[in-house]
Amino acid sequence: MTGTERRGILLAGGTGTRLHPITQAVSKQLLPVFDKPMIYYPLTTLMLAGVRDVLVISTPHDLPLFRRLLADGRQWGLRIEYAEQAEPKGIAQALLIAEWFLQGARPVLILGDNLFYGGNLTGALAAASARNDGATIFAHRVRNAAEYGVVAFDSHGNPASIEEKPAVPKSQYAVTGLYFYDSRAVEIARTLKPSARGEVEITDVNRAYLDRGSLGVQLLGRGAAWLDTGTPESLLQAAQFVQTIEERQGLKIACPEEIAWRNGWIDDAQLTRLAELLPKTAYGRYLLDLLGEARS
Ligand code: DAU
Repeated sequence: MTGTERRGILLAGGTGTRLHPITQAVSKQLLPVFDKPMIYYPLTTLMLAGVRDVLVISTPHDLPLFRRLLADGRQWGLRIEYAEQAEPKGIAQALLIAEWFLQGARPVLILGDNLFYGGNLTGALAAASARNDGATIFAHRVRNAAEYGVVAFDSHGNPASIEEKPAVPKSQYAVTGLYFYDSRAVEIARTLKPSARGEVEITDVNRAYLDRGSLGVQLLGRGAAWLDTGTPESLLQAAQFVQTIEERQGLKIACPEEIAWRNGWIDDAQLTRLAELLPKTAYGRYLLDLLGEARS
């Protein structure tokens, strides 16, 4: 293992109480967003960043369902491992749970309910991934910044403060649930004390990087979409957004089979096998059409 390798952590636990009764029996990150489970979106964001080793973290109750859906990842040219978070004690806890999996590699952490879409996303992911020292987070302008981590900038455009759900936000830039760290992140997480809400806060990890002058903040511009899935309304809107783009373009958003194939992680024969596992579905036909188009 080299210190420059990236390994992904996909955090998909929590109680989902804000979506009850929808999530009373089913994990939030398994709910459909139009034509695929929610977790496909953050998983493919990791894949677009070039990450092939992924640790999925969820509750003891839900973890078997993720295993059933994603298996060991080999079907997509990935290695997927699993770990339990006994109780939702904070997003930063994922770094501690993942220590055995990281083995010194640099982590990229993504929340299982975050959907990213945008023209220049792959370029932004590559730039963040290539950075060896410090951290890179992504900020996006939102109407309701007080509901998120909020980053504010100085007159030179450098990050000046970062706060978790401030009553009076210092900017309209929310911090998204995608974090690229160097290998010090686990050490930093270990030093944190739980916040007033009893969680080890990812915002405190980011502030530690800010205090050391090594926090990079990439703005996702207005051409990018960072979609919320926190309420029934926003979940429906996210599904409609995906449907609108997919039907217009004839291309799927967040299709792991396609990304694995385009990245050269699986070959034509494997893509055909995956398509044949989805007979009589538009999804399966889409995979076969990709092969047809490439051949013609
Ligand atoms: O979505 C971006 C926001 O995510 C950031 O702007 C905030 O800084 C960050 O704290 C987080 O805020 P949320 O209030 O959305 O966090 P929430 O507690 O809802 O957790 C986000 C996801 O992570 C959710 O799907 C559940 C999962 N989770 C959360 C916690 C605290 C876990 O799997 N385990 C946990 O311990």
